[in-house]
Amino acid sequence: MAQIVFKGVAKRFGDVSVIEELDLQIKDEELMVFVGPSGCGKSTALRLIAGLEELSEGELWIGDRVVNNVHPKDRDVAMVFQSYALYPHMSVRDNISFGLRIRKMDQSEIDRLVNEAAEILGLTPLLDRKPKALSGGQRQRVALGRAIVRKPSVFLFDEPLSNLDAELRVQMRAEIGKLQQRLKTTTVYVTHDQIEAMTLGHRIAVLAPMGTDRKTNLKQVGTPLELYDSPKNLFVAKFIGTPPMNVVAAEIDDSGQRLIHPGFTMPLASATAAKLGSLKSKKVLLGIRPEHIGEGDDHEWREPVSLRGTVEIVETVGHEVIIHVRCGEEMIVAKLGAHRIPGYGEDIELVMRSDAIHLFDPDTELSLTS
Ligand SMILES: Nc1ncnc2c1ncn2[C@@H]1O[C@H](COP(=O)(O)OP(=O)(O)O)[C@@H](O)[C@H]1O
Ligand SMILES: [Mg+2]
Repeated sequence: MAQIVFKGVAKRFGDVSVIEELDLQIKDEELMVFVGPSGCGKSTALRLIAGLEELSEGELWIGDRVVNNVHPKDRDVAMVFQSYALYPHMSVRDNISFGLRIRKMDQSEIDRLVNEAAEILGLTPLLDRKPKALSGGQRQRVALGRAIVRKPSVFLFDEPLSNLDAELRVQMRAEIGKLQQRLKTTTVYVTHDQIEAMTLGHRIAVLAPMGTDRKTNLKQVGTPLELYDSPKNLFVAKFIGTPPMNVVAAEIDDSGQRLIHPGFTMPLASATAAKLGSLKSKKVLLGIRPEHIGEGDDHEWREPVSLRGTVEIVETVGHEVIIHVRCGEEMIVAKLGAHRIPGYGEDIELVMRSDAIHLFDPDTELSLTS
């Protein structure tokens, strides 16, 4: 068992800066998810932990030691990749036990560990099969088994479910969560899928591609709810949540009590006004999630603010309907209950929950309300 700590870590490939000023503590027994768009450095960060890449700057701790100069095989970590990296000519049993056999562990101990892992993963009846006779999900379980039997201090997962179909992905995601809960091994899980991050992570670290300013690419660390309720910047606000948060330009008026937008005037809820202090006459970006916008009079929200527009896209997803509504220059996305499905081209009145808004500084893109 071990915590992992990044202290002022940077990773550069020649002139290309991939990670800068990364400070992050992953707690013992925690399941931490690294999430962010493709190319933001998630795999690189994971490979730094595994020892497959060298740090350009800073310190990396695993447990109570700095591992900057510790060889990958001495770090006591096990990594599971998107490509399962199984040996095709070996049985499931031999694939799972491979790492133990090269360490010349006692055969009876190997058998005991493999049988235990197979039991946990539901692989017992498949131990004598070759990988080609397994489904994608079963192969991924074998890769998990190979990681489990080593009883490492740390599990590292790099998009392990990307090759599975949607249904299996949801199932395996739940299994990995359960497995981690059972083994309590400190885990870092990389994905570009924010839903996977939200459902699996105890905490989530949101990464963005490095900007030209060479500031850190770590945008926020928090529990799924903290990221959803209190995004610290526009990047996190737009990255977490489906469909993404609506963001429109608005202005706090000279009383500091109202937001002015060409399509509506919104009184600031007292809690929001309190967070803003005495901010007045300021251009802001107003963020509101699709689930905090409803239709007409079917809502009992306090101080709802209405906005008119024309329905351009209707997506029916079972229990809810997602509509894209043109309001002047802007497209607003709203998530409605499925009790009425609006028609294309329909003129509609939306209501926004004024106590559920987020405000951002348009220059710094930092939240003014979180
Ligand atoms: N060995 C390397 N040499 C040069 N650039 C690299 C190397 N490995 C990764 N990169 C670059 O680092 C950036 C981050 O890559 P990666 O960590 O794989 O991102 P992610 O996993 O978030 O998609 C990319 O722009 C990639 O091209
Ligand atoms: Mg990657």
